[in-house]
Amino acid sequence: MKIAVLPGDGIGTEIVAQAAKVLEALRSDGLKIELEYAHIGGAGYDAAKDPLPEATLKLSQQSDAVLLGAVGGYQYDTLPRPMRPEQGLLRIRKGLGLFANLRPALVYPELVNSSSLKPELVSGLDIMILRELTGDIYFGQPRGIRTLDNGERQGFDTMHYSESEVRRVAHVGFQIAMKRNKKMCSVDKANVLDTSMFWREIVTEVAKEYPQVELSHMYVDNAAMQLVRAPKQFDVILTGNIFGDILSDEASMLTGSIGMLPSASLDANNKGLYEPCHGSAPDIAGKDIANPLATILSVAMMLRYTFADEANAQRIENAVRKVLQQGIRTGDIWQEGMQKVGCAAMGAAVVKAL
Ligand code: IPM
Ligand code: MG
Repeated sequence: MKIAVLPGDGIGTEIVAQAAKVLEALRSDGLKIELEYAHIGGAGYDAAKDPLPEATLKLSQQSDAVLLGAVGGYQYDTLPRPMRPEQGLLRIRKGLGLFANLRPALVYPELVNSSSLKPELVSGLDIMILRELTGDIYFGQPRGIRTLDNGERQGFDTMHYSESEVRRVAHVGFQIAMKRNKKMCSVDKANVLDTSMFWREIVTEVAKEYPQVELSHMYVDNAAMQLVRAPKQFDVILTGNIFGDILSDEASMLTGSIGMLPSASLDANNKGLYEPCHGSAPDIAGKDIANPLATILSVAMMLRYTFADEANAQRIENAVRKVLQQGIRTGDIWQEGMQKVGCAAMGAAVVKAL
């Protein structure tokens, strides 16, 4: 199994180095994997004047899975938009057809007190957010900045979803729900947007093929409120690209830190790109203080979803649990009485716990 490793920018290199340690540990235990590195984001721009160099896309296409750190940095903020690091990320998602983005928000008992919500609201929380990742206003054309007839300038984007796009991600959602508590909430803005009205119609149609799953619909503003009011009402949340972007950041805070949230982005054949939900955090880059657990947990998702290796996936997740039980914490999840460690020491602790 070949894994393309794309550390990217900022803390990306630090956290991916720790996740690679975990993969190396599994390899020395007999897991047949091969890692190959390439540039993406600002690093891609620096190396090849392109946030997604051709060699990187090619390597990713030829690999069984992709492990990605994060992209972005202050020095790239003034580049023209096609050269920005984020474009590398959006293009690799689109280029690999990774339409299903799984973002599990899971509260570890040890971190209940790190959540910004009361412990009783989040204790035992286990939500799966399924975000459509290659459509919506993120990719809709036309878009741009234009000058109107009256001479005023205007920025504009286009939101749309085609039937096949909604259908395929809805199927993924129902299949995930079937393996969980058989509840799915589809989140949209059908009271205002035609795109959402259509989304709701198609999801309702697909639901007929999954009679055991209890489907509900919720407007995105209400969903944002319910996530901080009573988050345990949710099992699977299915939503579009932009709503999923926003709700998954919100949900991360329920778990204690965005540094704990892994993700999987899958194509139709379960080939996937695995990355933490957080960004490149340039303000703390190079200081060895970032939390590598979201990236390490993304490796667990890689084993589960792309390599169908549930045993090793659980082995990694249990190692993370054990480290938390030992009171080992990076700064973002640290509390009085715990042992504060840096990024590399956290990675080493997980490898030891493996
Ligand atoms: C995410 C990020 C990206 C997104 C950015 C960096 C383009 O926020 O993965 O959630 O908006 O999808
Ligand atoms: Mg985001």
